[in-house]
Amino acid sequence: MDVKNFVDEKIAEIKAAVEQGKAISALSGGVDSSVCTVLAHRAIGDNLKTIFIDDGLMRENEPQDVQKIFGDLGIQVDIVEARREFFGALKGKDDPEDKRKAFRNTFYSVFGREVKKSEARFLIQGTIKADIIETQGGIKTQHNILEQIGIDPEESYGFKVIEPVRDLFKPQVREVAAEVGLPEEISLRMPFPGPGLATRIVGEVTEERVELLRKATTIVEDEIAGLKPFQVFAVLLSDKGTGIVEKKREFGDIIIVRSVESKDAMTAQPTQVPWDILMKVTQRITTELPKVVRVAYELTPKPPATIEYV
Ligand code: XMP
Repeated sequence: MDVKNFVDEKIAEIKAAVEQGKAISALSGGVDSSVCTVLAHRAIGDNLKTIFIDDGLMRENEPQDVQKIFGDLGIQVDIVEARREFFGALKGKDDPEDKRKAFRNTFYSVFGREVKKSEARFLIQGTIKADIIETQGGIKTQHNILEQIGIDPEESYGFKVIEPVRDLFKPQVREVAAEVGLPEEISLRMPFPGPGLATRIVGEVTEERVELLRKATTIVEDEIAGLKPFQVFAVLLSDKGTGIVEKKREFGDIIIVRSVESKDAMTAQPTQVPWDILMKVTQRITTELPKVVRVAYELTPKPPATIEYV
């Protein structure tokens, strides 16, 4: 792929599709949607409205950090507060696909509302090739694939979807990110799934459980991200285990630490994290989060496991 040509072509395509109309970009702060947002901003300037939906399932400070990075690039990002709606939709659900569907439906309904408000007729979205392959293969319900799940976005939500990087895999998207001048914080950012921390919670997704996982995630990233794995994160299980907290037996939570090496997320191997780092992560999680009494490191490659838990 000639990256420079790709950028020029996509900018021209977006310009031609949107013409003098308005488009809205669904920015998550990941490299895919960030690249699409910059391409669209270059194509149509202020006719692009960029929103970041705060679903309550993001990592620590993520909405504000993303807003700041894009602000520095001259792209205004509006944060849409929708936490209540997402937690409401996820309430009582523990089946993985039910959770993904609840997330997807809420995502599009919040989006649909924002699109209507903005009068945009086009939605710029960062779907990449692996998302399409895995959804077509029935591996998972990817929140951003509409056509394969039989939803016509124009009919259902009143907008057309433009997916500028749908033919690229992640490494190519990173090349484009560097080409369009995104900082390494974005171009080299670890993949983070659309449904956010919900894909790392086994069982019901409640605010309290997300808060616990968010703190564990910060610790795990602090200690392991320096090794530059493809992805590293924490998972909260629904199972519990016995531990000893303040000299009393306590039936507490279990956190799994997962770190993987991969090229395109289609296959993955566990990272060989040094033992002392794993011990430090365990010690920090169990002392900083006393509800957690056990921490385990996951060794399963993909396949047979997936990278995320849900
Ligand atoms: P799995 O868990 O299926 O994940 O092995 C493969 C890669 O895709 C990411 N992922 C998602 N990304 N929306 C996204 O944008 C999603 O619904 C989604 N589910 C998984 C995951 O983090 C991994 O990099």
